[in-house]
Amino acid sequence: RRGLATVARSDAFANLTSADVEAFAKILPSPSQILTTIAPESGSASYQPVDPSELDTFNNDWMNKYHGRSQLVLKPKTTSEVSEIMKYCHAKNIAVVPQGGNTGLVGGGVPVFDEVVVQLGGLNKIRSFDEVAGTLVCDAGCILESLDNHIGEKGYMMPLDLGAKGSCHIGGNVATNAGGLRFLRYGSLHGTVLGLEVVLPDGTVMDTLSTLRKDNTGFDLKQLFIGSEGTIGLITGVAIATPRRPSAVNVAVFALDSYDAVQTVFGQVKKHCGEILSAFEFFDQTSFDVVQKHATAGVRDPFEARHPFYVLIETSGSNKDHDDEKLQLLLEHLMEEGMIQDGVLAQDETQLQGLWALRESIPEAAGKMGKVFKYDLSMPIDKMYALVQDMRTRFDEHGVHGEGNDVGAVCGYGHIGDGNLHINIVAKSYDPKIESIIEPYIYEWTSNVKGSVSAEHGLGLMKATKIGYTKTPESIEYMKKIKNVFDPKGILNPYKYIQV
Ligand code: FAD
Ligand code: MLT
Ligand code: ZN
Repeated sequence: RRGLATVARSDAFANLTSADVEAFAKILPSPSQILTTIAPESGSASYQPVDPSELDTFNNDWMNKYHGRSQLVLKPKTTSEVSEIMKYCHAKNIAVVPQGGNTGLVGGGVPVFDEVVVQLGGLNKIRSFDEVAGTLVCDAGCILESLDNHIGEKGYMMPLDLGAKGSCHIGGNVATNAGGLRFLRYGSLHGTVLGLEVVLPDGTVMDTLSTLRKDNTGFDLKQLFIGSEGTIGLITGVAIATPRRPSAVNVAVFALDSYDAVQTVFGQVKKHCGEILSAFEFFDQTSFDVVQKHATAGVRDPFEARHPFYVLIETSGSNKDHDDEKLQLLLEHLMEEGMIQDGVLAQDETQLQGLWALRESIPEAAGKMGKVFKYDLSMPIDKMYALVQDMRTRFDEHGVHGEGNDVGAVCGYGHIGDGNLHINIVAKSYDPKIESIIEPYIYEWTSNVKGSVSAEHGLGLMKATKIGYTKTPESIEYMKKIKNVFDPKGILNPYKYIQV
């Protein structure tokens, strides 16, 4: 039961023994930092085994699609504890999977077999915040939302935001190079992350935790760890540039009758509100219906009728009257020109949250409806929706599409402003027959339009053999060389990322 990927456990890695757990118990001072199902040698009292169910949350992913069977979870609280753990694992050939908030969507943060889980939630201190420069230095296990609340009190905000903000760690965000809902405005973590502290697979601590914005002395090594998905080092500290929190935020949702209209409206919104635009998201009627039926907290439909497409736009500025006026004018213009069928502007914070919930609840609602095959693709904006329609046609042709059928819904939504499409195919089960209708078709389609098979969720286990659809053989060869430089024994997050 390891998702749909088929790989075999490598004999290169040691089988854990109680002596290994004893060694970790010497590194980690509190018994609560070790969760293991391995029984101690008789007479030993240095640790107590736990019921296997206590490891479930670490062995299974957010979608309950990928399942490992680790017998040991370690919860270090300091960089030096992480370093000592890795020195031991390196010496003994013990395979390790770094885990943050376990909200990843490609099976990258859970073990495939019996790898040791190093869970970084204990590294949760804010180290410093420079209120003039807006630079934050913190432990990697800090939760994104907690960081945003902390610096929010000082008038700043985190440069990224995602639906998983209440559980994901900043270290996990950096490791996956998460994009999210405001990428359009604040850009990639490759630009905002200023420095990292990383424990390498042999336990070496690499300190690049600079807060300098400009530093042209040699290779920018931290960039290698951004998006490396825990394959070349464990991130323990993050320095990040944070923008001022806007004093005026507006949100509007427009209803549209075609995907062409979505693209036209995107152009109009950039023309009228370009300098204050902070998000431009789209979702189709299927996604909207799934949210209306399955979101845990009922999400109110603000419109009188259902429409084929919706876009959510958010503006962030410093002058509410100015921004309100711009949005009002935009709305009138779009209505007069017949570019949108309907539109709502949030009048207060509750309505603003309600409109965001229409978009943010899609992954959760799809997960409530069934088992979700998730695809996260980059491609030219004009091509995006044709793929969603092609997928529906394929399922129709196989006679498996429609409510109550094996494939209950094909949802198309995403960060259209970034050319990032999400397709969520909601099925009754993770049936390999359904997967074979989707793959490799979806990857070939994406490759043919020169897209990427991962815009933001990463490769993980799901796409460990799919990178060739996007990257050239030469690039892959050099990536493998880089992996080998940092992790010649291959102990860090094996079976994932680049297995071609
Ligand atoms: P985990 O899931 O624990 O791990 C993810 C990967 O990073 C694994 O490979 C793991 O080994 C590695 N890793 C974790 N921590 C470290 C560390 N400290 N050092 C080294 N490696 C580490 N992603 C987006 O890009 N945009 C979105 O809009 C978005 N929205 C989401 C909404 C929901 C509801 C959910 C459930 C997920 C969403 N995601 C999104 C997926 C996204 O990848 C994660 O939410 C987040 O970035 C992962 O952080 P995490 O701490 O949960 O990492
Ligand atoms: C999103 O944009 O909602 C996320 O990337 C999560 C997802 O698509 O499941
Ligand atoms: Zn996304």
